Amino acid sequence: MALESKILTWAAEEISKVSFWNLSFFFSILAAITIAQKIKKEKKYPPGPNGFPLTGMLPRINKQFHLFLFDLWKTFGGIMSLKMGNQLVVVLGDAKLIRAAFAKQEFSARPKSEFSSILGGYGIINAEGKLWKNQRRFLHQQKFGMKHWGGSGSSQMESRISDEVLYLLSSIESEKTNPFDPAPILNCAISNVICSIIMSTRFHHNDKRFQRFMFLFNEGFRLFTLTGAMAYLPIMKHLPGVKNTVEQIKSNRDEMLEFVQFIVEEHKSQLDRNNPKDLVDSYLIEIEQAREAGNLEQVFDSMDPEKQLQQILLDIFSAGVETLKTTIQWSILHMIHNPEVRRKVQEELDSVVGPHRLPCMDDMASLPYTRATIYEVQRRATVVPMGTTHATDRTIEFEGHTIPKNTHVIPLLYAVHMDPEVWDQPEEFRPERFLTAENKVQKPKNFMPFGSGQRMCLGDSLAEMELQLFFSSLMHVFDIQPPSQDELPSLEGIAGVTVYPKDFEVNFIARNVEALISANVSRSKQTESEWKPHVRMYA
Ligand code: HEM
Repeated sequence: MALESKILTWAAEEISKVSFWNLSFFFSILAAITIAQKIKKEKKYPPGPNGFPLTGMLPRINKQFHLFLFDLWKTFGGIMSLKMGNQLVVVLGDAKLIRAAFAKQEFSARPKSEFSSILGGYGIINAEGKLWKNQRRFLHQQKFGMKHWGGSGSSQMESRISDEVLYLLSSIESEKTNPFDPAPILNCAISNVICSIIMSTRFHHNDKRFQRFMFLFNEGFRLFTLTGAMAYLPIMKHLPGVKNTVEQIKSNRDEMLEFVQFIVEEHKSQLDRNNPKDLVDSYLIEIEQAREAGNLEQVFDSMDPEKQLQQILLDIFSAGVETLKTTIQWSILHMIHNPEVRRKVQEELDSVVGPHRLPCMDDMASLPYTRATIYEVQRRATVVPMGTTHATDRTIEFEGHTIPKNTHVIPLLYAVHMDPEVWDQPEEFRPERFLTAENKVQKPKNFMPFGSGQRMCLGDSLAEMELQLFFSSLMHVFDIQPPSQDELPSLEGIAGVTVYPKDFEVNFIARNVEALISANVSRSKQTESEWKPHVRMYA
């Protein structure tokens, strides 16, 4: 028998085994997919895979979401569309397209979800429209609260960060056990930079209230990740498990707001309008001035100004701590996996900084390899692999495609940083990518860890300075060794709000402790006096 007729007979036998209802279900799905394909073509949506009716691509997700999208990107390219549940999602995986889209106001909205409704449009990360614009401008002008400290903006930032660097190095030095997991003390140091700037508060890492605050934050991130699918299938919010998760998010948030409100009340009672000391003071003054001028409604777009202040504090904390802590954790891991790079960084630090002091911002121009290594950590780790999802506030024609109002738009930064056409062997860790032939630092156009455009990260300068000071000082004072050379800690990330490493321990071996001792002794009284009188230890 010819092959074709064999196949036909087999197919006829198989179909005869299937019930009429199964068969009609199968053909309905086929018809729905065909119609969806037709609509997509007719509406000129960007190309993309066909999902199932109702659930779209949700049932097809078989790995971490950014890696799943990266696989699709390999087929569909820099702009694609897919259905997640009933929601149309456009994914941009090309630096040029991300820049072009996010420069436009039309792409600057945020998705409406159960989670954003809990936040009620307050804060900065989920705010939109006039409120968002005003708040962005205000935070920028106030330099997150450092405006009133005197001195130039960057010297204030540096003095604040350097102090926390010193506390961190001293904590590592006095740690009794080696190896140990550096995450908790890193977390505390990074949190203290933000907390002292925005609310004049520092914590000890053993402080119970701080531990509870951090627990609530981490729990919040974990629960938020659990509700991921709910953003696309709102019907899920009626499932008992999901309902409980949403309730838990609300109650955790209430507890965090209570703590933040306590800080705000304390500031109110001590407020000196002529000497604001931090972001909370600046906000309280802004509220008073707007009230006096009778334009409170306008400035805060008819939203409650105190609720806005509370959410701003939580937003800045959540945007500025987890991202930085995770990047420094990755930098330690990459130094363990790439001893040759580590050795070169340390040689550069030894020759430029020397054994008697810690690195400072003035050294950075002479530390190209160290800076290039930090950029390569940021590229390779891409801790925010899908940026923060944007949404369209109207129907847009973009690059020959139609993108309807309320489409979710994901900037796939992971694809931008792992595109083999742009980065030779992107899996490899090579700081040289960020150096010119003349050994000068260069940032290729396809490097965008902070996103791009109107909603680009507001803390990029602070983050860069923190990364440079924390990383260079850690590498200068300590050598970093894995607990065992036979089995290095994993480079596989866990995807949550950021992509973070699995728990790991590391040996810190003193190499330039003298630099730490002299830094502790000669800490500049002058720079300290700019902020120290205000900042207090929270107990
Ligand atoms: C390594 C550290 C950091 C990384 C990789 C990072 C990355 C990002 C990214 C990708 C976005 C989303 C941009 C978009 O929506 O298109 C973002 C937004 C934001 N980041 Fe960062 N960030 C970091 C540190 C910080 C710090 C230290 C702060 C503040 C102190 C901060 C404050 C913000 C804020 C407020 C937004 C929201 C902006 C808006 O919606 O208008 N970030 N960041």
